[in-house]
Amino acid sequence: MSIVIPEYRISTDRLRIGVFIRLEGLKWHEHPFLFKSFKISSNDQIQTLKTMGIKQVICVPSKSTAQPLGEHETAAVSDEKPESPDPKASVEQLWHIKQERSEELKRRQETIVQCEKSYIASQERVGKIMAGVTAADPSSVEDAAAFAEGFSQNFLEDAESTLHLMRFTANDETTHYHSLNVAVLAMMLGREAGVPAEMMTVLCQGALFHDIGKSKIDRKILTKETALTRAETELIQLHPKYGVDLLAYSETFPKLGLIIIYQHHECSDGSGYPRGIAASQIHQLSKIVAIANVYDNHCNKRNPSDSLTPSEALSYMYSRQKAALGEKLLSSFIRCLSVYPPGTVVQLNNGSIGMVIAVKPGDQLHPNIVLYDPEIPPKDALIIDMQDDPELRIVQTIRPAALPQEIFDYLSPRTRITYYPEISTPGEPAP
Ligand SMILES: [Fe+2]
Repeated sequence: MSIVIPEYRISTDRLRIGVFIRLEGLKWHEHPFLFKSFKISSNDQIQTLKTMGIKQVICVPSKSTAQPLGEHETAAVSDEKPESPDPKASVEQLWHIKQERSEELKRRQETIVQCEKSYIASQERVGKIMAGVTAADPSSVEDAAAFAEGFSQNFLEDAESTLHLMRFTANDETTHYHSLNVAVLAMMLGREAGVPAEMMTVLCQGALFHDIGKSKIDRKILTKETALTRAETELIQLHPKYGVDLLAYSETFPKLGLIIIYQHHECSDGSGYPRGIAASQIHQLSKIVAIANVYDNHCNKRNPSDSLTPSEALSYMYSRQKAALGEKLLSSFIRCLSVYPPGTVVQLNNGSIGMVIAVKPGDQLHPNIVLYDPEIPPKDALIIDMQDDPELRIVQTIRPAALPQEIFDYLSPRTRITYYPEISTPGEPAP
């Protein structure tokens, strides 16, 4: 059994490279370091602390790779000398870097606000489209086509658009958020899988309307808490067909869009419905929507406490549903969302706890993370891009329910995991 040595206060005279420290009683804007906890990696850092007049810090033995100097041993007798000849200049340099980080942080915060505005506008527009299509209004199908075209164009124009975690704002159980989420995820996977530009619009239309047939089924059955009877299950399994029937009045809705709707519950191993067809008979676009749909259903169950975390959902899909969803496409999907998809709560190697709020599709290791820091109000919380800090690593994921209450409240892990890309125009309501 390993013995954990508790943290203790030491004089900055006892610091050396490898000692992990925590600054005490200083707010983020009161010191030039990027983090309040870090492992000493240069003698300049020790000099900076002294130049700032900091006499004591907290030593964290469990994260240190070297012991502090002894009580009567000082840096003067050690061979550890500052690398920089001008300590004041190196402090100023640190402040300069921190200032740049601060401006970058403001830009990130503004981007998130813009993204959330676009997301809300898109949700409202999709809500109107759904209501119109359910009422057999042809202009709603036209509006859906315009929305899908703009959305897919934006996706394709910015090949590396960052995927952001959104705050879930809807307060009812409509399927709009689900439709939009499946559309976002399907577009992301479609782009990664090389779907041609002209088919991306159809993919978006199919994804938006994949569950429209559920509007023909009694809500009491759709929201039933207890096990479904065989007859109820069979009825629900008719929703792909009902969706096709519902859109049949439209002369403009693409035939391939209808195929997506009809096939979105078919599985590559033949275990799906309504026909149980094999992989070769299922259209590539239907397979893409199926993966997006399954992922969203895992992350957003009707009772949020039953939901899987984003990383649990991906590992469940890969370990249990690979044959049904198709390994190659599923691997592409995981690559897009990264090992730590937005919404994942993580612990870093410097001890910080945070939540992944954005990823660049394909960049597995450098998500953007909002950090818990009780000394910074949540609205101004630090957002770091792991790319800027090569020494930072994610060491584990944490289930939100396992977080101490104050950290849970600060990070406010989403009860619904919804995403939106960092693009500019698709959320604008139609003129
Ligand atoms: Fe469905």
